[in-house]
Amino acid sequence: MPLSVETCLTPELSFQHDFTDKTAVIIDIFRATSCITTGLNHGVVSIKAVSQVEECFPYRQRGYLAAGERDGRKIEGFDLGNSPFEFMSQKGKKIVMTTTNGTQAILKAKGASHVVLGAFLNFDAVAEYIVQKNKNVVLVCAGWKGKYSLEDSLFAGALAKKLFEFHFQANNDDATTSCLLMYERVASNLKEFVALSSHYQRLRHLNVKEDLDYCITFNLMQGVAELQESGEISLFR
Ligand code: MLT
Repeated sequence: MPLSVETCLTPELSFQHDFTDKTAVIIDIFRATSCITTGLNHGVVSIKAVSQVEECFPYRQRGYLAAGERDGRKIEGFDLGNSPFEFMSQKGKKIVMTTTNGTQAILKAKGASHVVLGAFLNFDAVAEYIVQKNKNVVLVCAGWKGKYSLEDSLFAGALAKKLFEFHFQANNDDATTSCLLMYERVASNLKEFVALSSHYQRLRHLNVKEDLDYCITFNLMQGVAELQESGEISLFR
């Protein structure tokens, strides 16, 4: 029996989706899920995603590094911002992280059997994880402050296309179909297309173009970031 892929275009619409007994894929390409994936693949032990800045302090007292941003800018007094390159040199560390959208979206997927983070950086490994789990899938786009975002929807379309090569189908979910059609239309010039996105423009002004180019690179790493029952995100084993 085919399994279904549905897409939640922004976390504000998560109430429309039932996560029970499904695999949830949280997508914040620019940049939270790309950062977390990068960190864990470079030896970070685990990452705790929290909603509020103040929630990071008790973790920090216990030895965690505090990471995150608001409106793309590093939070004052934090150890790390939200650049994937900063996460490459934190081997052996535990991190607590709060971001404008990405960590908020991670906290929305209540009741899912498995919660995994989506990134182009480990695209094939994420697809393989989903196929192996053999459950219906919800793709959750983190967006920007409740609004739709181009780069997250593009990733949802790319992943849906890949999953449709296996026993998955959109099952009348127009959000998934539209993400897929958009991805197919622009797949050959992804960089030019994502440069049109509002977040690309927003972050370009913060001089993080290198981060953006990196975040849309396919398959640089193999490890998949998975939310554990403990509430920490670590590599799936
Ligand atoms: C977020 O979670 O809102 C993003 O990762 C923002 C950013 O690019 O820093």
